[in-house]
Amino acid sequence: MKILSIETSCDDTAIAILEVESGKAIKFKALSNIVSSQTDIHKNYGGVFPMMAKREHQANLVPVLTLALKQAKLANPKSQIPNPKQIQTLKQILEKESTLFESVKAFLEKHEKPDVDFIAITNGPGLEPCLHVGVNFAKALSYFWNIPAIPVNHIEAHILVNFLDPRPYPLDPKKIFPAISLIVSGGHTQLILVKGIGKYKIIGETLDDAAGECFDKAARILGLGYPGGPVIADIALKTNNAPKSFILPRPMHHSQDYNFSFSGLKTAILYKVRDMGKEAKSEKFLGEICVEIQQAIIDVLIKKTISAAKDFKTKTIILGGGVSANQELRKQLKEKIQKEIPSAECLIPDIKHSTDNALMIAVTGFFHRKNKKRWQSLKTSANLRIGIAKK
Ligand code: KG4
Ligand code: ZN
Repeated sequence: MKILSIETSCDDTAIAILEVESGKAIKFKALSNIVSSQTDIHKNYGGVFPMMAKREHQANLVPVLTLALKQAKLANPKSQIPNPKQIQTLKQILEKESTLFESVKAFLEKHEKPDVDFIAITNGPGLEPCLHVGVNFAKALSYFWNIPAIPVNHIEAHILVNFLDPRPYPLDPKKIFPAISLIVSGGHTQLILVKGIGKYKIIGETLDDAAGECFDKAARILGLGYPGGPVIADIALKTNNAPKSFILPRPMHHSQDYNFSFSGLKTAILYKVRDMGKEAKSEKFLGEICVEIQQAIIDVLIKKTISAAKDFKTKTIILGGGVSANQELRKQLKEKIQKEIPSAECLIPDIKHSTDNALMIAVTGFFHRKNKKRWQSLKTSANLRIGIAKK
């Protein structure tokens, strides 16, 4: 079985092809995993502008698809003429994406249908205009190639990417569930109780900014560009364990629930930078504040995750989302689990699968392969919440 997956929920245009070999054991094999990141475009603005991101997706989707198919050795160049009815339907599907329509048409005229069984597409949560381009693109391919599609929840994909190789499938649910998953991305910070694949309950989440958003906003205050997480982590790593002359707040560290709040931390950073005046530009201060920002965020994330894992007696702790690329978070979470709940397993994605990618969408599509739909019923859902049954 081969799955073509598409991800455009934020500022990465990503397409992957996953082969699932089913014999005695089921094995995942990534045939391609292309991510075209827009960070250079959004860098100077300190964040993602949805309409700008949408335009980039429109320009990138066909080149990324071409590359993904070529890399998977599934590109079959062959000239073919779509009939007028097909052109008309494609035009209707891509009505709001006229530039994309032209490039999709040119691509379909030059390529045969590839050997893929279905399309997995992120339909939420995310930036509405960005989700729309991806879903309409998936609809166009699904219609023209006459293959079904599966809508995928982006947050669930950040969880399930942890079940990609090298961990073999089928999983032993008795050994893994219940699990607690900490999803930390640019748009979300959630603690999710995972009772099984497809069985989720959000038990806590941020009341304001997400952890990644806090890294991004802090970097903007410090003039470090976008995305903030990797650059703050980098400076913190170089600074090492230099003594800190100040501490930043750890919001909600001691609250008796599983919620988070990061906007107070951002304000504290803003005030600290303002108070430092010219000194705020010094290498010493920048190093110190990056170490402290990273540690403040890590402290609350780990504290709440460990409490939830203990309270719900979970067998596994699953980390996911862009912030899970943070080396200190990965290291400190593993150490804390080892110390406090040694019987629990800790799943952390490969760094290249932490930030947005389409392979995670394909794996999730595989787990939900029974949920195949015709292209007409695909819909975006910008505020999609994991664990809430769709109407
Ligand atoms: O999951 P993701 O790629 O996109 C969303 O779904 O939002 O997460 C992006 C977020 C950004 O806020 C970025 O600053 C953060 O992940 N991030 C990191 C690191 N790499 C990416 N945060 C901390 N440390 C990192 N190494
Ligand atoms: Zn994400």
